Amino acid sequence: MGKKMHILIINGPNLNLLGHREPGIYGAQTFEDFLETLRQAYPDVQIDYFQSNHEGDIIDRIHLAGYGDDVCDGIILNAGAYTHTSVAIHDAIKAVPIPTIEVHISNVHTREEFRHHSFISPVAHGIIVGFGIDGYRLALEGLLKMLAR
Ligand code: DQA
Repeated sequence: MGKKMHILIINGPNLNLLGHREPGIYGAQTFEDFLETLRQAYPDVQIDYFQSNHEGDIIDRIHLAGYGDDVCDGIILNAGAYTHTSVAIHDAIKAVPIPTIEVHISNVHTREEFRHHSFISPVAHGIIVGFGIDGYRLALEGLLKMLAR
C-alpha cells in the first residue's frame, strides 16, 4: 500500500472562534468537531490542522509544509482577513512546490466590498467560497482528485 496522502488545513485569524463567532455567518459548529468528522470520513488521508492569528506563523507553517521534514501533498487555506491584505501569504504560497486551495466559509462576494479582493486567489489552485464549513470537505475532495491526476 502506498503512503497516505498528507493534507494540511490552515485557518487564519479569528477562525479559532468558529462556532462562537457570528454564527449567522460562520455556523454553530466548532472547527475541532468538524475536523473529527472529516478525519473519520477520510481515514486514508492524514489531515493535519494549524490555526494562527499571526501572519508570520501562517507563513512559517506554509514553508514547513513545502520544505520541512514532514512535507505535505497540499494545503487547504482559509486565511481569514489576511486574504484581503497579505502579499506575504501570497508570496509564501507561490514559494512552495505544493498546491493550495483557498476556502471561505461565507460568500465573500455578497459581503462588504473590502472582502471582494483576495491576494490568495491568483496563486490558489482552486477556490471554494460560500458553502459554509462544508467548504473544507469540498476543497479536500477536489484537492485529492487534483493530486491523483
Ligand atoms: C472568511 C471571510 C473573510 O473575509 C473573513 O475575514 C474571515 C472568514 C470566511 O471564511 O468566510 O475571517 O475567510
